[in-house]
Amino acid sequence: MGDDEKQGQGTTPPEKPVACVPGTRVDRLSAFQLYHLNKYAEIGMALSGEANVNRLLEMIIHEARAITDADAGTLYLVNEDATHLDFVILQNDTMNTRMGGTSGVEINLPPVPLMVDGKANRSNVSSHVALTGEIVNIADVYESEEFDFTGPRKYDEATGYRSKSMLVIPMRNHENDIIGVLQLLNAQDIAAGGCITEFSDDRVVLVASLASQAAAALTKTRLIKDLKDLFYAFIKSIANAIEEKSPYTGGHINRVVDISMMIARRINEIDDGPFSEVHFNEDELEELKLSAWLHDIGKIITPEWVVDKASKLQTIYDRAELVALRFDLISKCIETECLASKAEQLALGAGPQALAETDARCADALQELSEERAFVMSCNEPGEFMSDERIERLKGIATKTYEVNGEERPYLTENELLNLCIRKGTLTGSEREIIEDHASMTGTMLSELPFPKKLSRVPEYASSHHEKLDGSGYPQGLKDDDLPLQARIMAVADIFEALTAKDRPYKKPMPLSQAVKILGFMKKDRHIDPEVHDLFLSSGLFREYAEMELNPDQFDEVDVPPDLTMRTVLIAGVGDFEALTERLLTWGADLELEPSLGKAELATIEAYGTCKPYRIVFIPADDQGWKLVSQLVDNEGFPMHSLVMFSDAPDDEDRLYAQTLGLAGVIALPAQEQELSAVAFSIVNGHRYSEGVNPALCLMGKARLRAKNEDGGPSILVVDDSANTRMLVKYYLADKHYRLAFAENGRGGVEAYTKSHFDMVIMGTHLTGMDGFAAARAIRNWEGESKTQPVPLLAITAHYIPDDGQRSLDAGYTDYIERPFTKPKLLKLVEQYIR
Ligand SMILES: [Fe+2]
Ligand SMILES: [Fe+2]
Repeated sequence: MGDDEKQGQGTTPPEKPVACVPGTRVDRLSAFQLYHLNKYAEIGMALSGEANVNRLLEMIIHEARAITDADAGTLYLVNEDATHLDFVILQNDTMNTRMGGTSGVEINLPPVPLMVDGKANRSNVSSHVALTGEIVNIADVYESEEFDFTGPRKYDEATGYRSKSMLVIPMRNHENDIIGVLQLLNAQDIAAGGCITEFSDDRVVLVASLASQAAAALTKTRLIKDLKDLFYAFIKSIANAIEEKSPYTGGHINRVVDISMMIARRINEIDDGPFSEVHFNEDELEELKLSAWLHDIGKIITPEWVVDKASKLQTIYDRAELVALRFDLISKCIETECLASKAEQLALGAGPQALAETDARCADALQELSEERAFVMSCNEPGEFMSDERIERLKGIATKTYEVNGEERPYLTENELLNLCIRKGTLTGSEREIIEDHASMTGTMLSELPFPKKLSRVPEYASSHHEKLDGSGYPQGLKDDDLPLQARIMAVADIFEALTAKDRPYKKPMPLSQAVKILGFMKKDRHIDPEVHDLFLSSGLFREYAEMELNPDQFDEVDVPPDLTMRTVLIAGVGDFEALTERLLTWGADLELEPSLGKAELATIEAYGTCKPYRIVFIPADDQGWKLVSQLVDNEGFPMHSLVMFSDAPDDEDRLYAQTLGLAGVIALPAQEQELSAVAFSIVNGHRYSEGVNPALCLMGKARLRAKNEDGGPSILVVDDSANTRMLVKYYLADKHYRLAFAENGRGGVEAYTKSHFDMVIMGTHLTGMDGFAAARAIRNWEGESKTQPVPLLAITAHYIPDDGQRSLDAGYTDYIERPFTKPKLLKLVEQYIR
């Protein structure tokens, strides 16, 4: 066949193309066919775009049932050892049963063994299919003699259900491995009123095709997850290996990861101050976490004896003992010399006077030696600062000599003198260089790894943890703007961990107050970032960490006031609040006084449920006050830990009751600073956002731009974690004059919406990270708080998840469209709300 024929043009010359009259095209495919083609295309895209295994599994079984109109379906997966089939999803419409997957209902059925008594288990239809890779299509399981259906029969007897037609299909991945089995039950003839019928052959082909697509998607999803798990496990094992090198720094890396992530998450939670515009998304948090895990990886080349050098004389072993023994030897030499000179004096007939003088000289020499020995030993202590005088004295001792076997030797060798003269700590200049080398080695090692794009800055962050703002750090001497925030966070974490570590050989565990003080000096000297420092202290994060990690005897009084700058404090009732208000104002609180308890209750409830979980409420500990509290308790999920009771003379009963209800505490008026500070810190640290409501977002709107329709048509924000869905929406809306913007997850969507004006938001529901429901609630809360007109908020729901549409409306969406959706469907919905 020639090329022309291959192209379907045959031998006749091509006709001149004639343009169609617009709007007259009759598609070769029927509407039904087109609908199904669209649907399969959407399923294919959804399968390849789904990263959540549970949702993927649920989607598979749902689509298979939809294709065949099956009343029930079960999805089994071959277990890791390939010995069993595990039940993973179970659905039955008639019996209203949904188990496994996103349903949250666990399946308690025992797995199906693939082998029984050493033989292939062919009696069970699902294991038979998993073993043979055959498709089994049975018209009525009660009449089947090939397989054992006692299980379904028993189920039917107990429930009144009738299991009849069954289709069992293997899920074979791209490597031809069977990874699971799809079992569909009771195909219904919808046109005939839903009676049970056989699974028709044309549907079998479609399900088999779906099963193989699904298997490939599942394998891909599992592979990605396995690779990620492997990567993290590998990193952790390297971190552990580094820490194993030194028993003294064990846990350092783990703890630096913890502190870094605590700071980053706190930055995400706050909406005021220097970090109000900073938000780390999920990828950036992961990037920071990895950087913290890997920050000391360069220590793999650092010799242990340098890392663990506990005293100045330590090399591979501590030479202090050697020096001590040498001084003992010198002492013996002096005594021997003394005895020898006395023997000589006796031989020459010296009298008692002369002998006594020799003894006295000896005693003086021994006394001097003993003092020198003690001084040398004290110089070996890392805590001893070596002043110029001490160094001079040491040098004097070092140059002294003693004689052994006719050989003259110095009291201290050159290297011993060098080490003992270290002014601060235990390291000489060259040893310090060896230690400092680890930071550049971290950079060198990590820059050789091909990190994916979203983690590309790990080498930079990890290797910059010893850089200082003033440029005096290492390895590059970076300063100010050259230092990314992530590196500044890790620097504070690294230093605070090292200061407070309770297991270092060369120092006693430091009291918390001293660590905080040193951190303060480092801020003043521009060694660490002042804003990260302030956040770490004023938010009470340092105390939160200390409570987890430090020895109780490290705790002492630390003079760090609680930071209430972002908090509204409502004081209900009447009383002498002078001291209380003065203190709260000093700490930056925004005060509201409400003498009427009824109004205070209303204001409190109103604030909760919009976006003010930051509110702290002071309530009188009298009958009326307790009544108010009990009414607040009835509000499910109310943040009780933000309530403080007050009274002139609170009694034990008040305190006990407050504790039982989970309140922040009870204070006595006039307020004592220490008591109030403890309560404020417990609120600040105990604050947990109710699901999906990020109060930080509520205030973000202050900076919202009102750029409505400035440059053309209505603006639509499209929020979905599937690139395919974003692409489809863009394609479907392309010929309309909409200005489109995109976000990949709920948090990004809320951020975008609260910063710029949009006439509509189209957002998926089951998004990774902050899901669409939470994002919808946050958007509505923000609108309430900032008195913004509610935006039409359209959900893209998953049709395979029951009640997804209703759930979206409950969460604050305006309307919804199910996946898969067609262009006319989407346009109709969009145009209903936007013109
Ligand atoms: Fe380091
Ligand atoms: Fe470190």
